[in-house]
Amino acid sequence: MHCRTCGDKAVINMRQHKLALCKTHFLTWVPEQVERTIRRYRMFTHRDRLLVAVSGGKDSLSLWRIITGLGYTADGLYIGLGIDGGLAYSARSLQYAQSFAQQHQLFLHIVDVQTEYGETIPELAERTHRGRHKPCSVCGLTKRHVMNRLARQGSYDVLLTGHNLDDEAAILFGNTLNWVGSYLIRQAPVLEADRPGLARKVKPLCRMYEREMGAYALLAGIDYIHEECPFAAGSTSIYYKELLNKLESDRPGAKLSFYLSFLQASRSGLFSPSADERADLVHNCPECGQPTSAPGRCIFCRMFVVHEDKLEYNGIDLI
Ligand code: AMP
Ligand code: FES
Ligand code: ZN
Ligand code: ZN
Repeated sequence: MHCRTCGDKAVINMRQHKLALCKTHFLTWVPEQVERTIRRYRMFTHRDRLLVAVSGGKDSLSLWRIITGLGYTADGLYIGLGIDGGLAYSARSLQYAQSFAQQHQLFLHIVDVQTEYGETIPELAERTHRGRHKPCSVCGLTKRHVMNRLARQGSYDVLLTGHNLDDEAAILFGNTLNWVGSYLIRQAPVLEADRPGLARKVKPLCRMYEREMGAYALLAGIDYIHEECPFAAGSTSIYYKELLNKLESDRPGAKLSFYLSFLQASRSGLFSPSADERADLVHNCPECGQPTSAPGRCIFCRMFVVHEDKLEYNGIDLI
């Protein structure tokens, strides 16, 4: 197999694009694709201050590398979740994020959930009974809250996450299987800051296959945590990814066209807000200021109520 650009030996064959490339041309092709996505969806410009949420994994570290390589100014944010146990998953992923930042002389914010809010994610899940064995939903909610808070406090224009096409297609698959209209209308490459207290969020890797990002990290020499979060094993999102990969291997390009057709349908107004998405039901949490449709305080602020004695929020004692 030969590189389409120079004819040298190819290192990757992307059947979905009918494209094989050598290392040099693959390492220029990936940033070009990301830049096209940034422009196509009007994600941000060179004047914007960007905040990249970095988990220490291949996607978010590659994203940070790619956008700074393209000349954008971007700080990083790592959220310490306290998922440690025998594998020291959080401690090790922090090390990868920190050494990447040092190596490339980039600024990394570190928010440790236990230090700031008094409990690790597994402890929080246990106490609130919101997933004693699988803290993933509590974890997702906390990450979204912290990302939004940091983006606003630091006056960043845009928050970037490393979700790739496989992530987006798996989320979409779950949302269409269960036909969750309110999630479908909020799934997009760009989420505008259309409510007070909300940061603008974008996913510049949404058109990149996970396989392409894995190859990029490897070929670009990016050191990242290879293990998944220990709680991810057996998750529905991994199951959906496997199903979609089966489809993809028989029909190259199926994942991309599933996602892109959805975006097209979405633009043409196929999905409309459900009752709980209606703007008149959303208000700002009196505690943290972030938008919520829950009555009174948002779910995040309620989760921490029992530990008020330990809790300091944004530097203000709550009791
Ligand atoms: P995940 O939800 O683990 O699939 O991660 C999706 C994206 O969320 C990643 O690409 C990162 O941009 C961001 N992210 C996940 N975990 C963290 C973390 N601990 N700290 C900062 N950002 C994270
Ligand atoms: Fe949050 Fe696994 S439970 S990363
Ligand atoms: Zn080449
Ligand atoms: Zn709140």
